[in-house]
Amino acid sequence: MKTKILPASSHKEAIYELEKGGVVAIPTETVYGLAARFDEPEAIKKIFLTKQRPSDNPLILHISSLSMLPQITETPPSMFYTLADAFFPGPLTIILRKSPKVPSIVTAGQNSVAVRMPSHPIAREIIEAVGVPLAAPSANLSGRPSPTLAKDVLEDLEGKIPYIVDGGPCEHGIESTVLDLTQEIPALLRPGAISRRELEEFLGLSFTSHSPAFSPGTKYKHYSPNAKVLLCSDAMEWQTISSSDHKRFLLDREGKGLFFNEKNLYALFRQADREGYKEIYIYCSEEVLSNEALMNRIEKASHK
Ligand code: TXA
Ligand code: MG
Repeated sequence: MKTKILPASSHKEAIYELEKGGVVAIPTETVYGLAARFDEPEAIKKIFLTKQRPSDNPLILHISSLSMLPQITETPPSMFYTLADAFFPGPLTIILRKSPKVPSIVTAGQNSVAVRMPSHPIAREIIEAVGVPLAAPSANLSGRPSPTLAKDVLEDLEGKIPYIVDGGPCEHGIESTVLDLTQEIPALLRPGAISRRELEEFLGLSFTSHSPAFSPGTKYKHYSPNAKVLLCSDAMEWQTISSSDHKRFLLDREGKGLFFNEKNLYALFRQADREGYKEIYIYCSEEVLSNEALMNRIEKASHK
């Protein structure tokens, strides 16, 4: 199969492909997603096969309007609407009780379902046009860094999918925050583009870390470049590392390294691999250490 990159201005073929049960990569404001309609188990199976994703890791359903909710969830708690009012559309994923209409392959057999309304105009247009929620994990091969550019998707999935809709670089560059609302006290299952603090302050409560619906995805090796990721949080040691004569792939905030943040971390990981580096050195300053979502991705990448 030849993979075609479609410009954002003409993605009709992608919509047609989705309507008939195919799988295509679409841009979102966080990372690119590998989308299929939620109500076709065969299409969902293709997502798992294409990504080589373990079948016990459930998918997020993407909606373009709250009117799609009854197709996929039971009646949500009022806190859902409070959050949706403030953070939808945007990089927040909420776990709710699932409707029986959602095939069990989508939720990996769980009785909950993950829901998100992306803010990317192309993603919204595509969901709207297909007319049903779209399941979409990040459009990388399982274990690889999430794609933040159309060419990153091509790097992992060339020849495996017919279309990649090119929406340009993703605004956030890391995945959505995943919040479980299936129990009385919400639980943060994955830190992400919206910070824990912002959500807790908005709701006026503290999240629990205990959740029966723990995110199966969090147990897998994730976000990893082929290069080994080495962390340093000692300024003196970083001096030594970064002034070595060896040519090194260095990431920091204000030194000799390449500047990094949430937005470009995955792209830098991919760059290091393309350039053949065996190691990536990252300086974790206080500022970086205090960024929960960024540290979560860096630490996962560093565990081989
Ligand atoms: O920003 C994002 O969320 C991107 C874009 C494409 O929307 N998607 C994304 O999907 O990151 P994925 O599949 O790479 O990560 C989804 C995470 C996984 O950790 C998965 O285990 C968790 O959400 N998840 C999905 N459904 C769940 C459920 N019912 N209960 C608990 N965790 C769930
Ligand atoms: Mg992913």
